[in-house]
Amino acid sequence: MSTPIKAIDWKNEKLVLLDQTLLPVEESYITIETIQALITAIQRLVVRGAPVLGVAGAYGVVIALDQAAQENWTPAQLEQALDDLRDARPTAVNLAWAVEKIRKDIARGRDFILASAHELALEDLRSCIGMGNNGADWLVRELGARSLTLLTHCNTGSLATTGTGTALGVIREMHTRGFVKEVYADESRPLLQGARLTAWELMKSGIPHLIQPDSAAAMAILSGRIDAALIGADRIARNGDSANKIGSLSIALACHEAGIPFLVVAPESSVDRSIETGADITIEIRGDEELTFFKGIQISPIGARTFNPAFDVTPAKYISAVITEIQAYEIAKGETL
Ligand code: MRU
Repeated sequence: MSTPIKAIDWKNEKLVLLDQTLLPVEESYITIETIQALITAIQRLVVRGAPVLGVAGAYGVVIALDQAAQENWTPAQLEQALDDLRDARPTAVNLAWAVEKIRKDIARGRDFILASAHELALEDLRSCIGMGNNGADWLVRELGARSLTLLTHCNTGSLATTGTGTALGVIREMHTRGFVKEVYADESRPLLQGARLTAWELMKSGIPHLIQPDSAAAMAILSGRIDAALIGADRIARNGDSANKIGSLSIALACHEAGIPFLVVAPESSVDRSIETGADITIEIRGDEELTFFKGIQISPIGARTFNPAFDVTPAKYISAVITEIQAYEIAKGETL
């Protein structure tokens, strides 16, 4: 059996991150000692994926407390550092949720905060088991106990959580039950979380898969190759509208046209019940160089302008169900969160 992948760890009183920007070529770890280093790592996608961003945020509060003690910060400096951490990436609600959840107990002391961060990491791991079972039960109920070809987008596995994953956790559970024929993994332009990270995880787990360009997804779906598509989410509104990696919306539209299930799999911590619809979700827009350069080489004319949203919002009407660790919300049947 392959060693479980740990995207994030707390070792010798320090936060350790697997540098996901270098995978799968290099398996290298970074020790994070300051809040500024953590914010930079989050923004560079050294650590990424909504659930694990929440865990990073929780440990970040401990790092901020340690740094505040060492550098004699004023309370205002500490608050500012925590605000900066909360806002490091705007779309995945888990980061802001975890920072706010953990920081409200700062008065109880550093050790209490560290224990709370450990607990949050454990809750995330447990939620993956719940999502895996609920998602696999849903697929078997809707499509029968048979071998399926599944499509997924971006990376939603052990690199994005502290457990087996969200959408990839369901795929793993389906594989364990003997119901995965093959997985079509979208490459997930421009940072290739699918081609680099999902393919790496599927390879390690011995799950048969193909990598396809994002632009092949609609063709794969409409040509009858795919039985169901499963994606994760960075933020889900009360009506079911779901933000996820750019390209998710196109998959949902193709699934709708083909009449096959489109599932959003995410922990309850990705549900933002303070917003009614996806119109209130802030979409992170990333830099030109992610599109105009490839591996450090300029591939576009100098000065080319870009439109580089990191996420899109799939309207609830295109979603069959939202699967969390608690239940399957039957969005297509009018259920809300
Ligand atoms: O930009 P990223 O790599 O952080 O985007 C990640 C995704 O869009 C994932 O699909 C989402 O966070 C769900 S992860 C379980």
